[in-house]
Amino acid sequence: MPQPMELAYEERGSGPVLLFIHGFPFDRTMWVPQQLAGLAKIRTAVAVDLRGHGLSEVMSGGDFSMDLFADDVAKTLDAIGADKADIAGLSMGGYVLFSLWRRHPDRVRSLIFIDTKAEADSDEAKAGREKTAETVSEQGMQPIYDSLGPKVVGSSPSIEVQDKLKQMMLDTAPEVAAADALAMRDRADSTVDLPNITVPVLWLHGEEDALMPIDGARASAAKIPGARFVSISKGGHVAPMENPDATNAAIADFLKSL
Ligand code: MLT
Repeated sequence: MPQPMELAYEERGSGPVLLFIHGFPFDRTMWVPQQLAGLAKIRTAVAVDLRGHGLSEVMSGGDFSMDLFADDVAKTLDAIGADKADIAGLSMGGYVLFSLWRRHPDRVRSLIFIDTKAEADSDEAKAGREKTAETVSEQGMQPIYDSLGPKVVGSSPSIEVQDKLKQMMLDTAPEVAAADALAMRDRADSTVDLPNITVPVLWLHGEEDALMPIDGARASAAKIPGARFVSISKGGHVAPMENPDATNAAIADFLKSL
């Protein structure tokens, strides 16, 4: 497996580390104006760029995996000087959380799953990943933005959120998006881990998430001992961007309870 690397990150605030991992095909900036600014009062809020995204180098010849992403996060915690952190991941970032829990449980104080799922890809979904990798390699990011852009938001996204999503998606290098897609295709089934998670868990889910419907998420969260589940109104698959006040309040409330 390729060597883990230190990721680029942005931080605000002081105190124990609360680290955010973005989804596909996004970068750290999805968290900056709202979660980093809003939660800096109670934590050192950190948002990382997964390898190849934002300001992080690609490395590893584009051979990505959720395990490698998780090892990168652990190495970045070393760089930040944090033994443990509260770690939040949205969608693909949630897949990284499951790997992190399996590989580096000692680095996790609590887990915050957001608009994600525990299941592995079906055969049909795996074929879709290959198609995505092929499409971006041949045509760049525009077709992915055209097809995925409208599906990641709920019914009332602001212009700012739509612009930000467009910018992140079109700024992602096609070879990075292709490598992400193949890494997601190959990710493990994490449903077996749900009953074995022993740290505090918050699961946040947009009520209007069209990519990962909320009922499946609620059922997964119910299998994690003691997990707290909070639905985010006026939120789709990127609920923290669409309804930051509800998201930040749920996270702050959860962290206060630890
Ligand atoms: C994401 O937002 O990270 C993706 O929708 C995850 C996926 O495609 O499975």
